[in-house]
Amino acid sequence: MSRHVIAVLPGDGIGPEVTTEALRVLRAAAELHGFDLDTTEFAVGAAGVAEAGDALPPATASGVTQADAVLLGAVGHPSLAAAEGRRRPEAGLLALRQRLGAYANLRPVTVHPALAHASPLRPERLEGVDLLIVRELLGGLYYGQPRALEPDSAVNTMRYSVAEIERVARVAFEAARGRRGSVTSVDKANVLEVSQLWRETVTRIAADYPDVRLEHLYVDYAAMRLVANPAAIDVLLTENLFGDILSDEAAVLSGSLGLLPSASIGDGPGLFEPVHGSAPDIAGKGIANPIGAIASAAMLLRYGLGESEAADAVERAIVAVLSAGLRTPDIARPGEATLGTRELGERVAQAVLQGNVARV
Ligand code: IPM
Ligand code: MN
Repeated sequence: MSRHVIAVLPGDGIGPEVTTEALRVLRAAAELHGFDLDTTEFAVGAAGVAEAGDALPPATASGVTQADAVLLGAVGHPSLAAAEGRRRPEAGLLALRQRLGAYANLRPVTVHPALAHASPLRPERLEGVDLLIVRELLGGLYYGQPRALEPDSAVNTMRYSVAEIERVARVAFEAARGRRGSVTSVDKANVLEVSQLWRETVTRIAADYPDVRLEHLYVDYAAMRLVANPAAIDVLLTENLFGDILSDEAAVLSGSLGLLPSASIGDGPGLFEPVHGSAPDIAGKGIANPIGAIASAAMLLRYGLGESEAADAVERAIVAVLSAGLRTPDIARPGEATLGTRELGERVAQAVLQGNVARV
């Protein structure tokens, strides 16, 4: 029986609640598909600060590199919002991404037909929406040097090398080949030199993919297109901060930020985490939507472990559960019955084991 090692980083806020459900579903998929999961928990974010005074404690930093894949919940805590250096929960996540060499962040956005009501957009706008955001994750303003906070000014630097743009562009073009064959590259080349380099480099890489269509959009126009005509976008390729912003915007299409998964891949083990944050306002209440975390577990199976049949089974189970009208409060209609985080996770796990849509 094959055995996979997973580093589990529940993190902060709703992170532990949703990660428990993702693990429940992963175990069901492992049982059904005949492989073993070896899971070890590590602290990250505010949990790391509490445990070791560091948002990415040394034990976590070394544990993740020994795993086949990393499952993360969320980081962020209001009490540490103004903390400095590695006591900032988010600094732990950025260091983790860097440690794993996770330069390409894949954020698929789909609209489940049973949830069209949950989006503020008109249902006809949502028809045919199936897009993949490929966000560069290790460059740009997030990591650029110099950076400084001074009494009367502050500086951050948006910097990209050709090599950094090339490697993430290739991920986008490869992904487009397995989809609808089109890449929309987003930049601000009418203003920023770094975007001019981005555009030039992406155009050059496109020559290696003659079967993929490429269009370039300025980020402001892309933000509008995402809600005005989202179905026209297949793969959206962009730099770190633009991708951060556009992916929260795109979440509106699916109806809830709580539904969206992500995979961060690159040189080391993949990192799989929901797009949502730690949601301190609902943490510990047992009402967080676990679907984003569970769908991230499906991406972990597919991209992290190569267990694509198990990934399919989890994705089918999510669709079955949503089609059966089971939902957490964030995606329920007013007055509709809802389930808690744990109950919904249990229903998805059951659906995986039964492999039977009708019996959900
Ligand atoms: C995300 C988050 C992170 C980011 C934060 C928590 C640092 O918003 O994964 O989108 O900005 O990358
Ligand atoms: Mn974000």
